[in-house]
Amino acid sequence: MLKHPLPRLDKDEELSNLLLPYCRFERGTIFIDQVSGHKIACGDCTDEKFLSKLFGNEKAALAIHDPPYNFIAFQKSDVQEFINWSKKWIELSYHHLKKNASLYIWLGADQNNHFQPLGSFLLMMSQTDFKSKSFITMRNQRGFGTLKNWMSIRQELLYYVKGKPFFNVNAEYTDIPKVLKGYYKKINGRVTENIERSKSENIRAGNVWIDIQQVFYRMEENVNGCYAQKPIKAIERIINASSKKRDLVIDFFSHSGTTLLASEKLQRKCFTVDIEPVFCEISLRRLENFRTSGKTGWQNSNPFYKEINSDKRLKNYLKKKYNIEYK
Ligand SMILES: C[S@@+](CC[C@H](N)C(=O)[O-])C[C@H]1O[C@@H](n2cnc3c(N)ncnc32)[C@H](O)[C@@H]1O
Repeated sequence: MLKHPLPRLDKDEELSNLLLPYCRFERGTIFIDQVSGHKIACGDCTDEKFLSKLFGNEKAALAIHDPPYNFIAFQKSDVQEFINWSKKWIELSYHHLKKNASLYIWLGADQNNHFQPLGSFLLMMSQTDFKSKSFITMRNQRGFGTLKNWMSIRQELLYYVKGKPFFNVNAEYTDIPKVLKGYYKKINGRVTENIERSKSENIRAGNVWIDIQQVFYRMEENVNGCYAQKPIKAIERIINASSKKRDLVIDFFSHSGTTLLASEKLQRKCFTVDIEPVFCEISLRRLENFRTSGKTGWQNSNPFYKEINSDKRLKNYLKKKYNIEYK
């Protein structure tokens, strides 16, 4: 079995820099995909001019944003700084969304710090023109937990709307079988129970998602080098419920390109942004790899495997710093 790991790129600037010559992106690059019309833009999502260039006259039906809310990734900036910064990309999202559109935001809540930034973020959102719609919780279990507190296995996902957008959760069934009978109701004079009344064998998705596996290294969709990948299944659920085929979906924090990939799979068009050239390149490679191999990630390998394998400096660096051997 091939085993070619790539350490977290956000934590190793030197490694990231060694990969830059293999990236088709630098700050300001907007890559236009000729097959499906997707765009991958390398820049700052709070830069109004850059976003205007990216969008032109197009407006999106759905935004799915996953900002770096974890303060380590966010260079220890304090909560207020995070909120001021978020306000900018939220306002720009509002501007680039259609009259009737949906906005989903993945966020964290630090239980040792008054559940921030979630608390302040909710207040900030209440002062915008978006209307709150749902507060989804996705089960996000990585390890076996600590004995010092309740294990934190929750991932918050906020759902807001602008106007009255399309929403269809009808087809969004979980993998959880309907085992409990109940909700008796009289139909044509006969008492029926829920299992015989409904179309599906499974439970429809509500605002607690326990049927989605957090991405980890043994999954096909895993992208080595990334640190904050969201499961494709979760993004597909959002896209299916809140957009139609050929709609424009936007994501200002591309990273491993999950929203881009899910949009491709579900025949939506995606405009995605990342400030780091290396994550823009990974997003593009993930799309290209999917088109040629049907694979959604690089289990046991990574997006830069070929280049690393033929680049002595990169090989030596990985061997010396991480004891990773490429053969
Ligand atoms: C939490 S990750 C997103 C993960 C993504 N949902 C996925 O499934 O791979 C956040 C990403 O935002 C990018 N980022 C941080 N600040 C940014 C900014 N101002 N503009 C655009 N992207 C930014 C980071 O480089 C990082 O790749």
